[in-house]
Amino acid sequence: MPADSATDLFLPVRLGSLWLPNRVVMAPLTRNRAPDGLVGELHARYYRQRAGAGMILTEATVIAPEGVGYPNVPGLHSDAQVAAWRGVVEAVHEQGGRMFAQLWHVGRISLPRYQPEGGLPVAPSAIRPAGEAFTPEGGAPYETPRALELDEIPAVVNQYAAAAANALAAGFDGVEIHGANGYLIDQFLRDGSNRRTDRYGGSIENRCRFLEEIVEAVTGVVEAGRVGVRLSPTGAFNDMHDSDPQALFDHVATRLSGRGLAYVHVVEQFPGDEPAPFDFASLRRRFEGAYIANGGYDRARALQARVEDTADLICFGRPYIANPDLVHRLALDAPLNPPDADTFYGGDAEGYTDYPTLDQQRAAPYASR
Ligand SMILES: Cc1cc2nc3c(=O)[nH]c(=O)nc-3n(C[C@H](O)[C@H](O)[C@H](O)COP(=O)(O)O)c2cc1C
Repeated sequence: MPADSATDLFLPVRLGSLWLPNRVVMAPLTRNRAPDGLVGELHARYYRQRAGAGMILTEATVIAPEGVGYPNVPGLHSDAQVAAWRGVVEAVHEQGGRMFAQLWHVGRISLPRYQPEGGLPVAPSAIRPAGEAFTPEGGAPYETPRALELDEIPAVVNQYAAAAANALAAGFDGVEIHGANGYLIDQFLRDGSNRRTDRYGGSIENRCRFLEEIVEAVTGVVEAGRVGVRLSPTGAFNDMHDSDPQALFDHVATRLSGRGLAYVHVVEQFPGDEPAPFDFASLRRRFEGAYIANGGYDRARALQARVEDTADLICFGRPYIANPDLVHRLALDAPLNPPDADTFYGGDAEGYTDYPTLDQQRAAPYASR
């Protein structure tokens, strides 16, 4: 039998406390279209179009003003932001979808211009990342961040929990803790960015403590079956590196297990990164919940992952930007629209809500996007 007809990619699956209609997940995708940190009608339309996903993860959403490092990204730390998200979540629910909020603090990947009162970005250690921050005028070199004082850390942990409570208030089905891609939690995890000498630095156990405390705090307000964690063990994006990623992330997976969490979500390859050796199966074996795989998956790889059982769910990023009806297209093995990278970050409806569905293309085959 061909892999297609044997696959369960398009069949319902349990994920923590939820039932999903299929195993296809929409990746968190920052699109920089939320002035003043507020989502609106445009976002409601965009996410509603993609409600056929087994689950939608929101674009990274900041937990506090200090968590901002890019222009026009949404937040979940004010009443106005909660109210704004409620409209988006309702639109997705009306369309029969499910949606988790991705909780984000960028740490050192910021600039004073994005910080309250122009202060320095915070990080585990005062180590300036190589590379340039993203600003509306172009790239700007990062500055050396300020290392968080030991007694400041509990307040940051609480900001994650407060944002998680806000996510529930906005109607979200759950939350994803963003522990990937070189942002604050990842900065604590990896020894390239964490040189602390207190109980949050040094050993793998210590570097994992910040994430564990966040998970503990978040699951104090959101049931564990509605909480997932995103990790990127091999990611080099945002100047990240570690002396022993396998030992570190095997430990992370072990420590995340036993708590009833819905899933770990693993970025196996970040766009632009070279493939790096890593035993993802080892990480998956150590974690009791579902394993969501992401990074460069297409239809064939997704089907193969299910046939070989290397992942429970498959998450798509760039394909979801360009294909609102991705599940439908994958199920039919229909061609995919190519994404236009020029409209990824910032702008308006163009390159955001105007990608056609297959049905629209079949009704008007010669219409352009
Ligand atoms: C435009 C764009 C925005 C992204 N924003 C986020 C984000 O907000 N949070 C996150 O965890 N990853 C983000 N990523 C990474 C994606 O979620 C995903 O890991 C990556 O695109 C690899 O998946 P793919 O090969 O299916 O595109 C972004 C990627 C792109 C291309």
